[in-house]
Amino acid sequence: MVLAIQAPAKLNRFLAVLGRRADGFHELELVTTVLEGVANLTDTLEGEPASTLTLAITGPTGDGLVADESNLVLKAWRLLEEEAKRPLPATLHLEKRIPHGAGLGGGSSDAAAALRLGNRMFDLGLEDQVLLRMAARLGSDVPLFLLGGTVLGLGRGERVFPLRPVPLEPILLVHPGLHVSTPSVYRALQDVGYPFPEALASQPEGAVPPWRNDLTGAALWVCPPLAEVRDALRDTSGEPLLCGSGSCWAARYARVQDRDAAAARISGLRPDWDLWRV
Ligand code: C5P
Repeated sequence: MVLAIQAPAKLNRFLAVLGRRADGFHELELVTTVLEGVANLTDTLEGEPASTLTLAITGPTGDGLVADESNLVLKAWRLLEEEAKRPLPATLHLEKRIPHGAGLGGGSSDAAAALRLGNRMFDLGLEDQVLLRMAARLGSDVPLFLLGGTVLGLGRGERVFPLRPVPLEPILLVHPGLHVSTPSVYRALQDVGYPFPEALASQPEGAVPPWRNDLTGAALWVCPPLAEVRDALRDTSGEPLLCGSGSCWAARYARVQDRDAAAARISGLRPDWDLWRV
C-alpha cells in the first residue's frame, strides 16, 4: 500500500543570531511557524515497500534536484536503516513544490517526512524522542518539522519546543528565483559583523513575536539583488522579512485586502517572481 506524507514549508518569524560557537555553528533563537495547509507550497513524499530502495523526484520545483545519496530524503532513510539495523527497501516518490535555496526549509521538511514515512511503513515503532535525535543529525531545521505548528528553536535551531499557536498575519511570500547558499550567508556574518545579540524577551503566551531576522545583512551582502524584492515589498503597505538565509521574503499586512492588493501589484511589476498568499 502506498503511504503519503505532506512536507510543508516553514516561516521563521523571529531569528536572532546570538553568536558563533566553537564548532562553527551559530547559536540561535528562533520562532518558526510550519505553513501547514498551503497546498501549492507543500511537498509530498509517497512510498511503498519494494525489493530495492529508489527515489524519484518530480514536481514544479523538482528540476535540477539530484535523487542520489546526497538527497536529505535518502540520508534520512539511511539513518532509519541504521536505527532499524536492517535494509528498508522502498520505492519513494518526492513531489516538489517548495523552491530550493529559498529559506523555506523544503529539504529539511522532506527529511522529516522521510523519517515519519519510514517509521510508519515498516512499523519501526521509533518514539518521538528518537526521531527528534535523528532529525537533528540531518540538519538544524529538520526537528521543527516533526513538531509542526509554531516552534521555539534554540541551540543551532535543532532544540525544539512547541509554542502555543501564534496567529499568522496575512502574509505574502515572494520568491525571486534566486538561490542563496545558507553556509555562505553564515560565513558572511563575519564580514558584515554580528548583529547585536539580543535574545527574545519573554513574551506573553500566544503573542506575535517581533518580526526580525539577523541574517538579513549577511544575505544581502552575499546576494545584493535580494534588495529589489525587499524594496518592492516596502513600496506596498507590507513589512518585509527575509525568510531564513533567503532568497524568499515574507511581507506581513494589517488586512487581507492589503495583502491581496500588494500581490496584484507585485505580480504586475515582476511576473517572473513566484508569489504565495499564506
Ligand atoms: O544544520 P544545517 O546542515 O542545515 O546547516 C547548514 C549550514 O548552515 C551549516 O553547515 C553552517 O554553515 C550553517 N549554520 C550555522 N549555524 C546554525 C545553522 C546553520 O552556522 N545554527
